[in-house]
Amino acid sequence: MNLDKLTDTFFQLYGKPEDKPRCFFAPGRVNLIGEHTDYNGGFVLPCAIQHGTYLLIRPCADRMVRLASTNMEFRAEIPLSDLSKKVERQWVNYPLGIFDQFRKLNVSFAGFDMLYSGNIPNGAGLSSSASIEMVTAYALTVLLNATQLEMIDLVRMSQRAENEFIGLNCGIMDMFAIGMGQKDHALFLNCLTLEYKKVPFILNGFKLIIGNTNKQRGLADSKYNERVAECQLAVTYLSETLSISKLGEISFMQFYKMQDEIPDEVVRRRARHVISENQRVLNSVSSLLKNDILQFGALMNASHESLRENYEVTGIELDTMVDEARKINGVVGARMTGAGFGGCTVSIVREDVVEKFIEQVGREYQAKTGLNAEFYIAEVSDGVREII
Ligand code: GLA
Repeated sequence: MNLDKLTDTFFQLYGKPEDKPRCFFAPGRVNLIGEHTDYNGGFVLPCAIQHGTYLLIRPCADRMVRLASTNMEFRAEIPLSDLSKKVERQWVNYPLGIFDQFRKLNVSFAGFDMLYSGNIPNGAGLSSSASIEMVTAYALTVLLNATQLEMIDLVRMSQRAENEFIGLNCGIMDMFAIGMGQKDHALFLNCLTLEYKKVPFILNGFKLIIGNTNKQRGLADSKYNERVAECQLAVTYLSETLSISKLGEISFMQFYKMQDEIPDEVVRRRARHVISENQRVLNSVSSLLKNDILQFGALMNASHESLRENYEVTGIELDTMVDEARKINGVVGARMTGAGFGGCTVSIVREDVVEKFIEQVGREYQAKTGLNAEFYIAEVSDGVREII
């Protein structure tokens, strides 16, 4: 990212070059394993990546918030009194959701000039929206000197912004990874208690490759909320016998014994995914701590199978890319990552076959789906921060 150029754009938009903006950055995230477990109070294992969102921001006194982005044409100039109104289908709703949270905390301010610039591929399931939310929340906290707010508060605020303002009933994983991320570490998070551990994630001789299917996620949000509801229904059935409020609270052995208490076959499969995926996260952490990358790869593969068969959130594009990845000798594991229905895959690839991987998976994927894939070599990075 060329920050001088971005600063020039800022001054072209907002003038007053004597008054310099401050610069903040929030990464995107990739989830290694533990998919669709977060809103079920389960375990996840994401990490922050090098791609992310930059924000140049400067306080102003005229009771206006001005929002622009180098990625999107739509810009907004909103009086403080209108900050809680949603704008029809525009990226500015992500910052507005955060302003709405600050308003609810009664934190007062006089206005801001803001310019965003991101390099996370849009709609690819690498959390570009949570990245915008977190960079906004962090920047406002610093500029407004809201020292009572800790990182976990900003994480919760961003999740509430999605749930209450955007209307997506997402879990806490994305914001958490973006807030707490640390270079060369994955975050092993218990979404029920929010306890977490940093697990070293250094792939000697291997690379973590993100494959973008470039299939737009289309109806993803409504399907996502549908899965959330199906899991709640599973809890309703199971809690006739057990006192639980989330699927993450029961072990696979417990589920295995009592799965017939869920009469609906589809709902039973949804629960089976969540509960087995939870166990896979625990096993993955053990594998990584032992540096057993082959075992970890096998768990990634099993995760994808369950997401395909039990949770039904993969689709032809993700399945094709994963199948093609696994055909290459030197790929130890491949799976979809994020919400699914399109978006990205993640694969662990031996260093000497990375080039072959990108060429062959790209070619075969194109031949089978008609879409051009893109690949990024992930660097596991730090969380949200100010760039000085
Ligand atoms: C999206 C949501 C997350 C999580 C994943 C699936 O990324 O934002 O909270 O539920 O899907 O694991």
